[in-house]
Amino acid sequence: MGYTINRVVVIGSGTMGGGIAAHVANAGLPVYLLDITQTIVSASLDRLKKSKPPSFFTPQTADLVSVGNLTDNFSWVAEGDWIVEAIVENLQAKRELVALIEQVRKPASIVTSNTSGLPIGAIGAEASYDFKRHFLGTHFFNPPRYMKLLEVIPTVDTDPRITEFMQTFGEDRLGKGVVICKDTPNFIANRYGSISAALALNYIYENGYTVEEADAIMGPLIGRAKTGIFRLQDLVGLDVSSAVADNLYSLIEHDESREVLRNPTLRHVRTTQLERGRLGDKTGQGFYQKPPKGKREDILSLDLETFEYRARREPEIPSLAEAMKIKLLGERLQFVLKQNDKAGALVRHTIYNSLAYASRRIPEISDEIVNVDRAVRWGFSHELGPFEIWDALGVRETVANMERHKIPVAAWVKEMLASGHESFYRSENGRLSYYDPARQAYSQACTTEPIADRVLCLELLTNTLDAAALSSLCDALDTIENGDYAGLVITNQAADFCIGSDLGVKELQDALMRVRFSSKPVVAAPAGRTLGAGAVLSMSAAATVAAAETYMGQIGIGGCKEMVRRIVSPAMKTPNTDPLPLLQQILQTIATGKVSTSAAEAQSLGFLTASDRIVMNRDHQIALANRVVLELVDTGYSPPAQSKTCYAAGRDALAALRAGLYVMRQGDFMTESDLHVSNKVAFVLCGGDISAAQWVDDQYFLDLECDAFASLRRQ
Ligand code: NAI
Repeated sequence: MGYTINRVVVIGSGTMGGGIAAHVANAGLPVYLLDITQTIVSASLDRLKKSKPPSFFTPQTADLVSVGNLTDNFSWVAEGDWIVEAIVENLQAKRELVALIEQVRKPASIVTSNTSGLPIGAIGAEASYDFKRHFLGTHFFNPPRYMKLLEVIPTVDTDPRITEFMQTFGEDRLGKGVVICKDTPNFIANRYGSISAALALNYIYENGYTVEEADAIMGPLIGRAKTGIFRLQDLVGLDVSSAVADNLYSLIEHDESREVLRNPTLRHVRTTQLERGRLGDKTGQGFYQKPPKGKREDILSLDLETFEYRARREPEIPSLAEAMKIKLLGERLQFVLKQNDKAGALVRHTIYNSLAYASRRIPEISDEIVNVDRAVRWGFSHELGPFEIWDALGVRETVANMERHKIPVAAWVKEMLASGHESFYRSENGRLSYYDPARQAYSQACTTEPIADRVLCLELLTNTLDAAALSSLCDALDTIENGDYAGLVITNQAADFCIGSDLGVKELQDALMRVRFSSKPVVAAPAGRTLGAGAVLSMSAAATVAAAETYMGQIGIGGCKEMVRRIVSPAMKTPNTDPLPLLQQILQTIATGKVSTSAAEAQSLGFLTASDRIVMNRDHQIALANRVVLELVDTGYSPPAQSKTCYAAGRDALAALRAGLYVMRQGDFMTESDLHVSNKVAFVLCGGDISAAQWVDDQYFLDLECDAFASLRRQ
């Protein structure tokens, strides 16, 4: 049978349950969020609404979440097509809840557990066979909106069709990167992550590193988050990571590396810190100590010898700065691994041991290396997974180095090399495949949707519109105008689409007008920060396909024309409409440099239109943008008419806007220079000091923008 999810029930409204409920609402689905008492669940919803970074795409998204308690509202569970358990990490409590759910759930509903360490099979063990068919693990990472990884864990009893359905639902609807895991302790990411972290920590403690040195080495230098290792520990909470490690230790008796979790030095540091209540950010102190609230003092660092806090000590490892000049991670790691200093030693120990550990966990935790790489990349935001790093370093050389350090490498890796296969991944004709130890051959890594040949794709290579980007844009526009292409998609595969421009105003305007009036459709595909010229570029396109995580705005004077054209002008086609409220709203958006916290919010701010598309999963963005180009062409695309489509409200509206600004200045809500700039913005938005409202063309507004820029620059 086919499955659909129209209503979700989340039980347990803590860190994870709350975050999952919010993200399900972000996907447009109504959610019931339940907890033991109404007080707990209401407090959770309040916390979610205020969370930073925001859990909800827009404040209105929260309306999709209804909160209830398990005593009065348990019957709500019967309405759920998908019921998610996210209560305390305790097998007995989870089993009791499963028994209650079983009594009320509707036939064919899917039940999942968000446990991070308990075996999924054990949680469902006492339930009926039908329940077990519909039961599996869905392990989100914190925070669920922002972390890409979703581990989906079927048991031996789970209906494979449900596993497949949850994979598609997780990817398409929730926008996650789904990795199917075996029901082994801590699944993939946390299994690898716990051992790899312990390996690093043990070396750090035993070899006299400072917390600053360790964080400088274990961060972006080796392709990991800026938090390094100790800032991350403080963020996660020492109580949480210790519980995960202890739980894991007891479950992996057969794992040859499990003793690293019980290293005496590691335990000494952990026990001392736990005894002193130094759990991390939640207690204000961990490996770092924050100044008391309201005090502007420096953050102190823990001295790992004395357990006292002391002033920050800058790491003195000259090779770090040298290494950071190397852009490619693989090359940077090769450089660091050769260093005869503290950085080289720690990275050699951590990387060689961790990669070898990953090899020894195949096929136990996964048959496929690609799953391990994805889980590590998506779950911990590492730039590359272990096998990808290994490839970047050279498999054969790295194996030799590991053996020199007496680190055991899995037999299948040596067999792979012996049979002449030199890398874990291979790219042929643009198709990526990975080595499958069971078949001793390569398998296809992903089946991405084919990109239509008829659509040209321009990938911006920097995050600012500079002369090189402008020239590529103009070339791409020439190519579609003069060739057989249906249209153009503009994207940037890096984190941010575009955060501004260093081009002259007129030069930029002319290029954006070419985008807007191109005879073939141009579709923008923004993601991440899309600011200033980046936002205006997207607004100039025939359509936008935005990733859900698009942070758009800060458009300044250069966005005035587009905002008037999109927001004021359509409304003014209706007789007797007052443009003032719309102009005030735009003025405020521009004057405050507003940036949306999601694509959905960009839509409500007017940076995206109602017909622009938002795609939850960024991996599907280009394919959808391509389809939109083809749809536009198939429905007879013609460029906008170069006629008077912009409404210039004129002098009266300008006077009203300026009066409002004057009041703000009097109330000290803005500085004199803010007032000056805002007056210029108001001038442009109203189409200047014209005596009566009139319809004008794009260029009229663009000239006003140009004049305003020039006058501001003069001043
Ligand atoms: P939490 O302590 O923040 O929230 C648990 C919630 O469940 C609380 O609101 C509590 O009132 C409620 N609860 C406790 N016992 C209950 C019961 N018997 N019936 C109904 N509700 C009950 O915990 P958190 O961190 O949200 O963890 C929830 C689950 O998610 C655990 O299984 C945990 O291992 C897992 N997990 C946690 C992650 C994290 O980073 N915190 C990451 C991934 C998974």
